[in-house]
Amino acid sequence: MIEMSHLHKNFGATRALDDVSFTVPAGQIVGFLGPNGAGKSTCLRILTGLVHADSGSATINGQAHGALPNPGRVVGALLDAESFHPGRSGLETLRLAAITQGLPTSRVHQVLAEVGLTRAEARRRVGGYSMGMRQRLGLAQALLGDPAVLVLDEPTNGLDPQGQRWLAGLLQQRAERGCAVLFSSHQLHEVARIADSVVMIGAGQVLADQRVAASADLEAQYFALTAGTDRAA
Ligand SMILES: Nc1ncnc2c1ncn2[C@@H]1O[C@H](COP(=O)(O)OP(=O)(O)OP(=O)(O)O)[C@@H](O)[C@H]1O
Ligand SMILES: [Mg+2]
Repeated sequence: MIEMSHLHKNFGATRALDDVSFTVPAGQIVGFLGPNGAGKSTCLRILTGLVHADSGSATINGQAHGALPNPGRVVGALLDAESFHPGRSGLETLRLAAITQGLPTSRVHQVLAEVGLTRAEARRRVGGYSMGMRQRLGLAQALLGDPAVLVLDEPTNGLDPQGQRWLAGLLQQRAERGCAVLFSSHQLHEVARIADSVVMIGAGQVLADQRVAASADLEAQYFALTAGTDRAA
C-alpha cells in the first residue's frame, strides 16, 4: 500500500536519502527507526508530498501523493504537530481540515473524542496547548478522513503513558481493519511492542527491513546496525 522505490534526496551537500526502497503492506504496522538525521522525516515528507525527491518514487496505493484527488481521505499524516496555526483553536483547525476534505463537521467531534481532547480544550487556542495536546490534535487531524494509510512521524512524542498505550491500541485496531501504518520512533521498546516489522535507516540508507524482534534483540540489532552511521560514532 505504501511503496518507496529508489528514493534519492540531497539538500545541498547533504545526502539525506541514498537509494531508499521499502514497502508497507495493507494491514501491517511498520516501525521506522534510525539515528537523528538518518532520513526518516525526509522520507515521510516525500511520501506526503511536502518534499520532492531528486529521483525515485514514493506511492500510496500506486499513486504519488500529488496525484490523489482528496489525499486526506486516503492517507492520514502527522508530521509536525508544532506546525499548527497557534491562533486557531483545535476545533477551528479540525473544522477547516474537515471542510477541505469534504467531510461533515460531525466528524470533528468524533475524532476529538477518539484522541481524548475535551470540548473545553478543543475551544482553546493551539498556541496554548501542551506538547501532548498538540500531538493529540495532530492525530485527530490524521484520523479525520478515516484513511486506509497512516504516516506518523514520532507520534508518541509528548504523550503520557496512558496516551502511548492508547495510541498503540489505536494503531493495532486500524491495522486489523486493513490499514497500512508507517510510524517513526526512537522508542525501541514501543516499536517492539506495536510494530509487525521494522525498517532501519542510517545515513540515508536502509540498514534492515525485517520482522520485528523481541525488545532486547531489537535493541541489540539497532546498535549493531547503526554503529558507524550514528553521529556519536
Ligand atoms: N529542509 C532541509 N534543508 C536542509 N537539510 C535538511 C532539510 N531537511 C532535512 N535535512 C537534512 O537531511 C538529513 C536527514 O534529516 P531527517 O530530518 O530526515 O532525519 P530524521 O531521521 O528524521 O532525524 P530525527 O530522528 O532527528 O528526526 C539531515 O542531515 C538533515 O539535516
Ligand atoms: Mg525526524
